Amino acid sequence: MRYILLTFVAVVAAVVAIAGFRGSTSRRPPIEIFADMVRQPKQRPQFQSEFFADQRGSRPRPAGTIARGEPYAETPWNTGRVPGTTNFVEALPAAVTHTMLARGQERFLIHCAPCHGAQADGNGITKKIGAMGVVANLHDKRIVELPDGELFYTISYGKNLMSGYAAQIGIDDRWAIVAYLRALQLSRLGTVDDVPPEWRAKLK
Ligand code: HEC
Repeated sequence: MRYILLTFVAVVAAVVAIAGFRGSTSRRPPIEIFADMVRQPKQRPQFQSEFFADQRGSRPRPAGTIARGEPYAETPWNTGRVPGTTNFVEALPAAVTHTMLARGQERFLIHCAPCHGAQADGNGITKKIGAMGVVANLHDKRIVELPDGELFYTISYGKNLMSGYAAQIGIDDRWAIVAYLRALQLSRLGTVDDVPPEWRAKLK
């Protein structure tokens, strides 16, 4: 019992010694136990900086960035919609180039093929291992007939079981994927009439 009392007194004395003088002023520098928390290598706004050549701590905005909360232009390219309406744009709002298709193929194989399969028929690896139940076959007539803007929207914000990819895939890449997906769909919609006459004999 005596030891418990003694310990109690010692603890009270220690707590008062350490915490009791918080807030009182002193001319001596404070003891910093974890100084790295007190002195952080960071730049305060509007302060001078030794790090940058022009010594300005507040930096100009890097090209091509948007400040948080800043509205971005409501163009078909950014939203997939006809400006001022909720209608999706029918066709991809730019000229499709070979570079864009190649980029789209690369991105499609990275972001979409795991579920939808390299041929977009819904037979990706996640279906084979049973991780996903029903994955949309992107050659479905309904999906082929969707406006380009709606495909862009689905990639951006997802649909039912599919989550959106706006955080992972930039706007330009989303359109590139749309373009490549259209090429994949077209590859299955071709008829004999699309084959040049001189090559038709070679078809099996
Ligand atoms: C994690 C798996 C997964 C990934 C990755 C994925 N999808 Fe999907 N996607 C689905 C599933 C599941 C559905 C069916 C959603 C439903 O109707 O429940 C679907 C549906 C769709 C549809 C049909 C939407 C509609 O109108 O019914 C489109 C188009 C589509 N995906 C495109 C893409 C594209 C393009 C990518 C790559 C950027 C992609 N998906 C990546 C799982 C995925």
